[in-house]
Amino acid sequence: MTFVIIDYGKMSLVLAINSLYTNNVKNKRGENMIVQVRSIVKRYGNVLANDHLSLELHSGEILGLLGPNGAGKTTFLNALLGNTSIESGEIKVFGKDIEKFALKIKKDVGVVPQDLAIYEDLTAIENVTFFGELYGLSGKDLKIKVKESLEFTNLYERRNEFPKKFSGGMKRRLNIACSIVHRPKLILFDEPTVGVDPQSRNHILQAIKTLNKEGSTIIYTSHYMEEVEEICSRIVIIDKGKVIANGTISELESFIMDEQIINIQINHVNYNIVEKIKKIYGVKDCHIKNQVLTIISKYGVQNITQILNNLNQENCKIININMEKAHLEDLFLTLTGRTLRD
Ligand SMILES: Nc1ncnc2c1ncn2[C@@H]1O[C@H](COP(=O)(O)OP(=O)(O)OP(=O)(O)O)[C@@H](O)[C@H]1O
Ligand SMILES: [Mg+2]
Repeated sequence: MTFVIIDYGKMSLVLAINSLYTNNVKNKRGENMIVQVRSIVKRYGNVLANDHLSLELHSGEILGLLGPNGAGKTTFLNALLGNTSIESGEIKVFGKDIEKFALKIKKDVGVVPQDLAIYEDLTAIENVTFFGELYGLSGKDLKIKVKESLEFTNLYERRNEFPKKFSGGMKRRLNIACSIVHRPKLILFDEPTVGVDPQSRNHILQAIKTLNKEGSTIIYTSHYMEEVEEICSRIVIIDKGKVIANGTISELESFIMDEQIINIQINHVNYNIVEKIKKIYGVKDCHIKNQVLTIISKYGVQNITQILNNLNQENCKIININMEKAHLEDLFLTLTGRTLRD
């Protein structure tokens, strides 16, 4: 174990995590390394989409990659497979340099893209067969794996139908069936539950757990902390192209253990009060949005009277108030002052 300090503005997150990069395929604990990314930089014009981003993935993990819109998640997944050029940094998948071995590596990777990649003019079974052939499967092996993929995603009964007849959730499941037909060692899921009904969502999350139990290592990107909490063994949070937190659920929870979130709805927007509240003992941060003051305070510190006095002095009337202990969902807020889905 090494301790890494991730600087993010005035917040610093200290977590016990594994060394961010090793040259060997096995790390110090002897685990197989599936992905080793060191300090990649990717720019689109003036936008720094990946800003010295480093990340490791061990065999058998389900890694949750969490971040708001535009954080750089899809860019990272594209860079990982060599589908987009990077300005600097190093990427190894299965211990091999992606630049030199992209074709060989991709044979063992399944990608479930953010935008659906299925053919509307092919039936479900034709779609999965097509992708199976692309990955080099043929004959009896192809037939068996196509059937298993359709059964696994609960689409076998509907195999002869065209995707245009499918719901959003079924299309997503077909997208997954196409991506896993070749039994990849590593599967990249890019927000696979967006726009799906709760039943399909649960099916997708359970399917990911099963794929992992059957031997696939997984990266799962999402905007939703509750999803990554449900299925992931480790969570990496990225914002503005940078890793701002990296740890197991209990490691991340320990960071917010002593915090509470106080939400106070007031009758008018007042930025003066924000600065005043920030100075109160025990207050870690305060910001205002739509007349709601959100205050991150040390748990157990009795500063609510002072906060209310300040509101009174500024002639702010309280419309509503609630206080609760911070949950993992609030970690992004406590690190950045913003919510994951603004
Ligand atoms: N092809 C492109 N051309 C120009 N800018 C791009 C391109 N792709 C991504 N970007 C920019 O790079 C940044 C990161 O985008 P990316 O798609 O990686 O974010 P994301 O975390 O996947 O977001 P989302 O959750 O919305 O999918 C954004 O500012 C985006 O506008
Ligand atoms: Mg994306």
